[in-house]
Amino acid sequence: MSTAPRMNIVVVGSGIAGLTAALHASEAGHSVTLVTKSRLGDGCTPLAQGGVAGAYGPGDSAARHAADTLSAGAGLSDTEAVDVLVRDGAARIAELIARGVAFDRAADGSLLLGREAAHSHARIVHAGGDATGAEISRALVAQVRQAPIEVIENAFLIDLVVDGGSARGIRMLRDGALIDLESDAVILATGGAGQLYAHTTNPIGATGDGIAAALRAGAAVADLEFMQFHPTVLAAGPAFLISEAVRGEGATLIDDEGRRFVFDSHPDGELAPRDVVSRAIARQAESHKGPVLLDATMLGAERLAARFPTIDRVTRERGFDWAREPIPVTPAAHYLMGGVVTDLDGRSSLPGLFAVGEVARTGVHGANRLASNSLLEGAVFGARAAAALERLRLAPLTQPLSSPATTLPPLDDRAADETSRRTQLQQLMWDRVGLLRTEHGLSEALDTIRSLRAAALSPATLAAHEEANLLLLAEVTASAALARTTSVGAHHMTPAPALIGA
Ligand code: SIN
Repeated sequence: MSTAPRMNIVVVGSGIAGLTAALHASEAGHSVTLVTKSRLGDGCTPLAQGGVAGAYGPGDSAARHAADTLSAGAGLSDTEAVDVLVRDGAARIAELIARGVAFDRAADGSLLLGREAAHSHARIVHAGGDATGAEISRALVAQVRQAPIEVIENAFLIDLVVDGGSARGIRMLRDGALIDLESDAVILATGGAGQLYAHTTNPIGATGDGIAAALRAGAAVADLEFMQFHPTVLAAGPAFLISEAVRGEGATLIDDEGRRFVFDSHPDGELAPRDVVSRAIARQAESHKGPVLLDATMLGAERLAARFPTIDRVTRERGFDWAREPIPVTPAAHYLMGGVVTDLDGRSSLPGLFAVGEVARTGVHGANRLASNSLLEGAVFGARAAAALERLRLAPLTQPLSSPATTLPPLDDRAADETSRRTQLQQLMWDRVGLLRTEHGLSEALDTIRSLRAAALSPATLAAHEEANLLLLAEVTASAALARTTSVGAHHMTPAPALIGA
């Protein structure tokens, strides 16, 4: 137990980053309140299939993991942040195991290691085959439930409370009431903003609330133009991820004539960096006027069911027997590399505000995240932010917080016109600020987004708050994309320069 002065800490968000930060802060003796938008543990983490990257295999090392991370990041990663990620990674995976995460193991007890794109080695630890995030979430939620951590569920982050130039709490909406929660520091772990796009692997609540609140509070935000599109989402029914680990096991991407077209874009074919594969699929689908196919038939029914039980079940529920026939796939918005700018301990530019996990821009991912580095990043930087609380210098509040006496409709009260405005924005972002961008398209999108923002009334419903957050992020994303005139990583301007992977 630390001898640090006891502080009141609010953690917002309950994916791996928020749960880790809350546990570490509580174990260090701080008084922790964990606020989450829906149920404890909901969000992107339980949907994560592939796993957590760690250098365990023969011939592998933290240095090789770092090199792969930097290479995927297309030259824009922060090398110090990557060093921290791979250096602290082993301890965090060991911690997950100690907290009860049952990673898949071989008969001799060693961790089973999967392979994913742009990794030079098989190094992905996984659980339940393709249910890694759900297992991590289960174990960490159970720990939080047993810890002296106050959990507030179904609470929507309206804004950060800033006093004397520091983050000193949050304003949240719960049961229709606006409530101010005072704290000595705030750790944002609110995830990303996949709901900016018409097609996304992210859940409905991924509306960038934390990044938007940080922007309004004056914290530095960067790299929003780098949205990662996952190459393989089942192109039938609601977006459902087909893990990159399936390609890591040997599945191929083919066109309607059975040709492995990704080799036209990159010598590593299906295991090229994710941005390259996504663009290759998008172009192929455009020219052939239909989805491309993922062929996993060579893996056989038994192996597919054992290694990928979740994907096996869902594809069969949707009418596909992927052991016998290739399945249609399409890219979808998956992970935001940009976010609230932080240092190596999760500190933002606003004193008292920390950001961890997808909401943060640590610099680890650069222009394109290496697969299975995101759960790792959440665990590593969640723990580091909690440790850094000890070094926080506090000033007394200049004025006491008082909650405004306002009520708003509940979370699911989404009016039809708000839903249709969101759909319009998502389609605009998909068409103009998506995988393949042009200067003209970005300019038009920015004009439209600005008009939508100008016409929007002050938010009076929860859905309107989400919409305002999405519009704000859309404007910053489109502006950043327009300002970045050369293609790099996930930001791709057409006509493309003649680069490998273009
Ligand atoms: C996947 O399983 O393909 C997703 C892994 C990731 O996004 O890191």
